[in-house]
Amino acid sequence: MGAGPAGLLLGRLLHLAGIDSVIVEHRSRDYVQKRVRAGLLEQGTVELLREAGVAHRLDQLAAVHTGFELRFAEESVRIPFADLSGRSVWMYGQAEVVKDLIAAREGVAELHFDARDVVVDEAGGERPVLRYSLDGERVELRCDIVVGCDGYHGVTRSRMPGLRTYEHAYPFAWLGILVEAPPIAKELIYACHERGFSLYSMRSPTVSRLYLQVDPTDTLDQWPDDRVWAELHTRLGTDLGYGLNEGPILERGITSMRSFVAEPMSRGNVFLAGDAAHIVPPTAAKGLNLAVSDVRVLAEALADWFTTGDRKALDGYSERCLRRVWRAEEFSDWMTGLLHRFPDERNMQFRFREARLRYLAGSEAAMSSFSENYVGSAVA
Ligand code: FAD
Ligand code: DHB
Repeated sequence: MGAGPAGLLLGRLLHLAGIDSVIVEHRSRDYVQKRVRAGLLEQGTVELLREAGVAHRLDQLAAVHTGFELRFAEESVRIPFADLSGRSVWMYGQAEVVKDLIAAREGVAELHFDARDVVVDEAGGERPVLRYSLDGERVELRCDIVVGCDGYHGVTRSRMPGLRTYEHAYPFAWLGILVEAPPIAKELIYACHERGFSLYSMRSPTVSRLYLQVDPTDTLDQWPDDRVWAELHTRLGTDLGYGLNEGPILERGITSMRSFVAEPMSRGNVFLAGDAAHIVPPTAAKGLNLAVSDVRVLAEALADWFTTGDRKALDGYSERCLRRVWRAEEFSDWMTGLLHRFPDERNMQFRFREARLRYLAGSEAAMSSFSENYVGSAVA
């Protein structure tokens, strides 16, 4: 269920293992390929995409990053996370990952866009049923396994009774813009300002990606271009002498921020992977990377089961994933708290944040601990 990164990569890995699958997506191909979201891929994610034979374009186009810049209180510090953790990250848009995976599947295995009224029935049974309409025709698929890779708003989770959920909504959102302008720096800039958080990122030598912390009730019409740029200049500290390349805004959107986990990530022969099972606030760039690590575990477990009939790895799927999920949830929440301004916070909180940032920037122990979490190699 779902042709996001989780569903498409799982389909690819199953295909390579000789296991048939059908991917059912309710949006159009165009919509799925144009959705601008993540941009930072951990090394483990890139390695799996390579193993899956879908990293040719990534290896040509993605920039490898070994550090980022942290700006706060008129200071700027570089966090050399690769030196400290031994691992790098790659900047490559999620939409490109999705395009590469769709191209690899086309003409090779079933992938249906624009499916209507998609439902999972008999989720507790041995052979769950997937029902949907395609071009006005009703389809019924009796499956060995159904995997809900249908994102946070998907329907699979609601068909799995008795899941325990944990949820927290943050009192702010992110306004993200994609800009036709060369990036001003080679590395990302995370900036903590008394007016709120901002992030400078990039997609290519000619396209920049920027984010601003905004109020969760704000709408796009409250953020005309002039206001967006003025706020970015202030928060990224252009008055400190840093430049900022403005350019036409190609795309914009406001994303609410939440933490969410559903446990366990399976019921019988129905499984959840990626955002369908867990959401993190985007600050630490963990969402897509977690989805990919779920899929790695699930594809291996399914290959085991289909080839040997042994269910041990399948039955251990949820527990194995959740350890990593909770590590990433905690780190994402912590990094969000470190960099964002909370409404109605005591004035002391702002100074606490500066003290934490100074400690992070000045202590090799703190920076090393941060780095192994940021690159996704911390022991869970
Ligand atoms: P999705 O990408 O949500 O895919 C689910 C698919 O299922 C969709 O195509 C949807 O249309 C389909 N679907 C839903 N319901 C149904 C249904 N009923 N029937 C059929 N299909 C259905 N993560 C990172 O790792 N790094 C980053 O830098 C990063 N930055 C981000 C920045 C922003 C602004 C945002 C919003 C997210 C960011 N993320 C990041 C998170 C990342 O985008 C998600 O975690 C990732 O998309 C999860 O992939 P997924 O396949 O699990 O879910
Ligand atoms: C991007 C998003 C993030 O949340 C992050 O921490 C780094 C980069 C991005 O979309 O480029």
